[in-house]
Amino acid sequence: MTDTTTAFSLPFDTTPSPAKRAEAEREAILADPGFGKHFTDHMVSIAWSEAEGWHDAVVKPYGPLVLDPAAAVLHYAQEIFEGLKAYRWADGSVWTFRPEANAERLQRSARRLALPELPEAAFVAAIEHLVRIDKEWVPGALETSLYLRPFMIASEAFLGVRPAHGVDFHVIASPAGAYFSGGIAPVSIWLSEDWSRAGRGGMGAAKTGGNYAASLLPQAEAYEQGCQQVLFLDAEERTYVEELGGMNVFFVYRDGRVVTPELGTILEGITRSSVIRLLEERGHVVEERRFAIDEWRSGVESGEIVEAFACGTAAVITPIGRLKARDFEIGAPDAEPGALTMSIREELTDIQYGRRPDHHGWMHRLA
Ligand code: PLP
Ligand code: COI
Repeated sequence: MTDTTTAFSLPFDTTPSPAKRAEAEREAILADPGFGKHFTDHMVSIAWSEAEGWHDAVVKPYGPLVLDPAAAVLHYAQEIFEGLKAYRWADGSVWTFRPEANAERLQRSARRLALPELPEAAFVAAIEHLVRIDKEWVPGALETSLYLRPFMIASEAFLGVRPAHGVDFHVIASPAGAYFSGGIAPVSIWLSEDWSRAGRGGMGAAKTGGNYAASLLPQAEAYEQGCQQVLFLDAEERTYVEELGGMNVFFVYRDGRVVTPELGTILEGITRSSVIRLLEERGHVVEERRFAIDEWRSGVESGEIVEAFACGTAAVITPIGRLKARDFEIGAPDAEPGALTMSIREELTDIQYGRRPDHHGWMHRLA
């Protein structure tokens, strides 16, 4: 556990909000935060230009951005983002989980989107500043958190198609309850057979808005089918399971083996890599490999596959009860959550909320 302030040479200039929400209003929001609906009193911004590099780091009142209508992000979607959470521990302290992993992933996304790389120390310092000034917005109830959304946009006003010379990085924060309204009940997912999320050589491994834009139509189909999430297959053969619209997936075998789709066209989830580590420490063999949708089907039919779950920062670990496809179904909507799914969920959330020791140095104190 590290609880030191991260050194970053850029000074942050702070302007406290003159319009902070009153305590009663904040408490009413924190009592039922939902997901992504409410935002704290402040935000962080850091500017980048070709000439000056990263500069003008500020903590300022939360509010609308001023963007030129010709800003490149609005036309060519040169944008990347991250998602991580701040957790309130029983003693009142506030911590986050593996922020350096999010910082590194933002750098990898930046390379793919031809955006400048933000130094890891700047990323972590930005989060520390925001959470410290908005500490009261970190909810304390079970399984709640403050969701942090760092993002970077091409703000240069220029309609030529080339990497922007002017970019802004911002961090906003939103108190969060469960991502799925049913809490941790098993979810139903819809198999997208017509649409792909990402192809070989595309942007699938980057956390960029375009991938989520591509998921919205199939996600709408999922809702029409009574499912909460959409599952994508590989774009070339439409055979191999990739990931959900906003989560990675795992399959548990009766013999204790666990399979998760290999990296390449999927997002390299920080929850995914943490779950792999925790499973391996318990002695499970974790196979990162191509996993055909038919292997899931036949594995469930034969009783070889006994659990499936989704994982991600927003969704934590969520059991998958049923997959619905055009011509077949796997599992059942009222399936019981799997035992391994629930115990890995408990281990991970216990570490995140300080209920058991952090042997991996994953937790980082913010306030
Ligand atoms: N896959 C997609 C498409 C996501 O949006 C997310 C969420 O961030 C994940 C996987 C899980 O990543 P992480 O565990 O880092 O939140
Ligand atoms: C996250 O888990 O952080 C995500 O970005 C997923 C999104 C569906 C909210």
